[in-house]
Amino acid sequence: MGSQWGHDKVYMRAKYEGYRSRAAYKLLEIQEKFHIIRRDDNVVDLGAAPGSWLQVLRTLTDGKVLGVDLNAIAPLDGVETIEGDLTDPVIQKQVIAMLGQVSVVVCDASPKLSGQKSYDQARSVALGEDAIRFACNVLKQGGNFVVKAFQGGDFPELHTLAMEHFHAVKTYNTKSTRKGSTEFYLIAKNFKG
Ligand SMILES: C[S@@+](CC[C@H](N)C(=O)[O-])C[C@H]1O[C@@H](n2cnc3c(N)ncnc32)[C@H](O)[C@@H]1O
Repeated sequence: MGSQWGHDKVYMRAKYEGYRSRAAYKLLEIQEKFHIIRRDDNVVDLGAAPGSWLQVLRTLTDGKVLGVDLNAIAPLDGVETIEGDLTDPVIQKQVIAMLGQVSVVVCDASPKLSGQKSYDQARSVALGEDAIRFACNVLKQGGNFVVKAFQGGDFPELHTLAMEHFHAVKTYNTKSTRKGSTEFYLIAKNFKG
């Protein structure tokens, strides 16, 4: 979380404003630029712990908000959570049972990093592909999807998969991402169904 000199400005701002992590500002930026969430949308957040995206989502929609993570998510008012693996088909069925129609899926999930760059990159792309498949199983036609990815060899496959299922796909680097990180987001709008 901290920079070389201790905690950085974004971290301090998140703490001051009551967000569970600095990641909150990435979703706020994405929403400001791409308008992915509308006021009545039901939204699923994959890889949601500790919950700062859920905090943001709760302010962006009056619809249902549901977070899924391998780790438990501390309770948040007006937010439902599932402790489980996003790649598990049982979890996908549970999401449909809890939300009914899903308008938006966002995914900030990242696998535990090993430090071995190409291995970590391949695993993060694989997780991104799992998230796209998840989204395709639960989204209504016309729905939107956001997923975190990392620059590198396997990324074109993720982009191609997204293009197969959504009418418009863009990539975006948030200003809140730490310097030196290769992280960016794929913004996919208008699910083909
Ligand atoms: C960077 S954190 C997400 C931060 C979150 N967006 C927030 O604002 O608090 C990444 C999360 O992805 C989760 N994750 C990784 N693989 C997962 C999987 N297969 N299923 C569910 N969650 C997963 C991790 O447990 C971790 O909590």
